[in-house]
Amino acid sequence: MKGIVFTEFLELVGRNYGVEMMDFIIEASDLPSGGAYTAVGSYDHGEMITLVQNLSTATRVPVPELLRAYGQHLFARFSVRYPRFFDGITSCFEFLDRIEGHIHVEVRKLYPDAELPSIDIDWRTEDRIELFYSSTRPFAAFAEGLMRGAIAHFGEAIEVRQLDAAADGTFIRFELTRS
Ligand code: HEM
Repeated sequence: MKGIVFTEFLELVGRNYGVEMMDFIIEASDLPSGGAYTAVGSYDHGEMITLVQNLSTATRVPVPELLRAYGQHLFARFSVRYPRFFDGITSCFEFLDRIEGHIHVEVRKLYPDAELPSIDIDWRTEDRIELFYSSTRPFAAFAEGLMRGAIAHFGEAIEVRQLDAAADGTFIRFELTRS
């Protein structure tokens, strides 16, 4: 997993819970990297799982809730860091439809060792899509947060309904309806 995912996470923990909490979870996690992340480096995604689990234990906020909140925050950061992915895109559905075939493809060109999931969009009608996340990593709640971040970014009235999910977090399916 790319360092940027860790650095943005720790920054958010520091902002929401204080730097003491940030230091505490790094310490408690006993990470192979020692918690010294650089944006372009790559680290085992298990380190993210350990950090979130320790934050969950310390704050009593469930892991999926923390991952969703982080995904939503990270999307806002992506929109600042990668403005070119938003050029000429006028709707949230159009944007989500470009993740698999364009955005994550470009991400892989930038970072050849990136670990990316599959985000498939199935158009049911012009105003209703189904989004499927699947990965070898258990980040369904993180994907939901990123998806909700995209919805917030475009400011459209979109209702989200979860249709299906794997208990281990490696798969999730949503129906999104625009009103
Ligand atoms: C401007 C938009 C986006 C950019 C630039 C972007 C870029 C990235 C990057 C850099 C990573 C890290 C790869 C690694 O750690 O090796 C990543 C992972 C991921 N992306 Fe995206 N992404 C975007 C939008 C989205 C959206 C909207 C979703 C969900 C609907 C999504 C789902 C995910 C997930 C869940 C991962 C974690 C890896 C996994 O679950 O297997 N991304 N993305």
